Amino acid sequence: MFSLTDRFLRVGCYLLIVIAGCTSPVAAEQKRDNPPAFSYLLHCSGCHIEDGSGDPPEVPDLRKNLDKLLRSETGRGYMLRVPGVTDTPVTSREMAELMNWLIAEFYPGLQDFRPFSAEEVVSGRATRLANPLEVRQSLLGATID
Ligand code: HEC
Repeated sequence: MFSLTDRFLRVGCYLLIVIAGCTSPVAAEQKRDNPPAFSYLLHCSGCHIEDGSGDPPEVPDLRKNLDKLLRSETGRGYMLRVPGVTDTPVTSREMAELMNWLIAEFYPGLQDFRPFSAEEVVSGRATRLANPLEVRQSLLGATID
């Protein structure tokens, strides 16, 4: 016969398996097949949220302004000089792939997008912005949306 404790243990184990099967590790597991998406989840979504919506006015919505920023070399450069991009511990190639994935994911209809190269990431990292918000303001105006 099983004791009451055994029963509790069995139910507990069962619940753990169900919970483990239903929560975010599954989403993370699926994204492992897609390295840039996984990298975004790991390194960016903590601030920018999984769907890119961010937390305006503190953290910009990545679905809104990157197309405008891409229209100028300064804007394009700014995107690679923000601390979130310069300081994330992935290789320059991985960061270029992450940024290219991000544009494809959040701006699917964007025409004439020239993919970021690892070399551009290297030079962005070498000129990390100490005052990203000032540069952002000069490119996009005062409000973060
Ligand atoms: C600690 C929070 C944080 C993390 C983590 C973070 N970011 Fe950011 N990101 C910000 C903030 C805040 C800004 C606004 C500029 C600034 O102050 O750096 C920003 C700006 C940006 C911008 C410019 C967009 C705009 O509208 O100004 C891009 C592109 C960007 N982040 C991409 C990323 C990517 C890609 C990652 C992951 C590799 C990442 N960020 C990680 C907080 C974060």
